[in-house]
Amino acid sequence: MKVIAVARRLEKLQELAANIKDEYKTDIYPMQCDVQKEEDILKVFEWAHEKLGEGKTANYHHIMNVNVIAAAICSRELVQSAKRRKTPAHIVNISSMAGHCPELITYPISVYAASKSALNSMAATLRNELINSKLDVKVTEGKVALVTGASVGIGAAIARELAKNGMKVIAVARRLEKLQELVANIKGEYKADIYPMQCDVQKEEDILKVFEWAHKKLGGVDVLFNNAGVVYPEPIIEGKTANYHHIMNVNVIAATICSRELVQSSKRRKTPAHIINISSITGHHAELINLPMSVYPASKYALTGMAATLRNELTSSNLDVKVTVINP
Ligand SMILES: NC(=O)c1ccc[n+]([C@@H]2O[C@H](COP(=O)([O-])OP(=O)(O)OC[C@H]3O[C@@H](n4cnc5c(N)ncnc54)[C@H](OP(=O)(O)O)[C@@H]3O)[C@@H](O)[C@H]2O)c1
Repeated sequence: MKVIAVARRLEKLQELAANIKDEYKTDIYPMQCDVQKEEDILKVFEWAHEKLGEGKTANYHHIMNVNVIAAAICSRELVQSAKRRKTPAHIVNISSMAGHCPELITYPISVYAASKSALNSMAATLRNELINSKLDVKVTEGKVALVTGASVGIGAAIARELAKNGMKVIAVARRLEKLQELVANIKGEYKADIYPMQCDVQKEEDILKVFEWAHKKLGGVDVLFNNAGVVYPEPIIEGKTANYHHIMNVNVIAATICSRELVQSSKRRKTPAHIINISSITGHHAELINLPMSVYPASKYALTGMAATLRNELTSSNLDVKVTVINP
């Protein structure tokens, strides 16, 4: 431990510190302090805070400079470079789950979590700026996106955003009436090309029908959001086998089938494509979530692993398909 040794007789403390340092490699700081005087005590704590504490101001600056300011400068230069050359570009921020769930990190990390939250919000601001300045809009405009699990929640929000930004969107889920309601709402707000389709992703024939329809009516699928997901709030040790299967079927197998079909669609047409898996922080840090959720975290680890394998296969086959994993 780092030790601050205080007393009135400084020479005694210094002698003690010298002796201890002779015997052990240790951090010991002798400080004169009359504990009868409040101002002496406060000075010791101030010194400790400034020199030894977690709260060193220089460290706050260092973390923010590297993790946020430098990333903002690099992003600005990247955008300028893309703008000058009129080419599409891609900024990938390596953030952290600490930027989303700082409350889960119970060990001291100074303003690291704050810096990662700032990095995430900088990305959101950048996206708005890029949309407003119509930079790179042509990259997505008119392309076809398929969103699984689009009837409610995150999938519905994704479908709405994509349609708003000019993509043709195929929104699939089991509840057709919910999809139709969403589509009616979106069309009430924007001029949108959005197609609701009933599809139970547990049934391969349903998935194949959607891809076939997309091929015939829209030319194919360019962007796939593997978003449909299910979870059971029950522990594995008391769990039902049917629920293990259900989670794996929807969260992993269906996403794998959809990914294969997307790659085939892109290969046939020789066009670039993008697969986006909506995973979860439980797919990286299952140990942090101490709630009953059956094999849900396992399924999200599998989804992340599937993305890594896909990337290797796509690279080896020289196919222009990006794979992204998002971890809410
Ligand atoms: N919300 C969060 O806090 C959070 C956190 C981490 C990760 N995620 C992940 O984000 C994704 C979306 O989460 P969410 O909270 O928006 O989920 P949600 O509100 O429960 O919605 C799930 C969606 O998946 C669809 N779905 C379920 N089974 C399906 C099936 N067999 N075939 C087709 N569609 C099916 C549902 O539609 P139908 O019922 O109409 O079929 C619904 O649209 C999931 O993958 C989830 O694991 C969410």
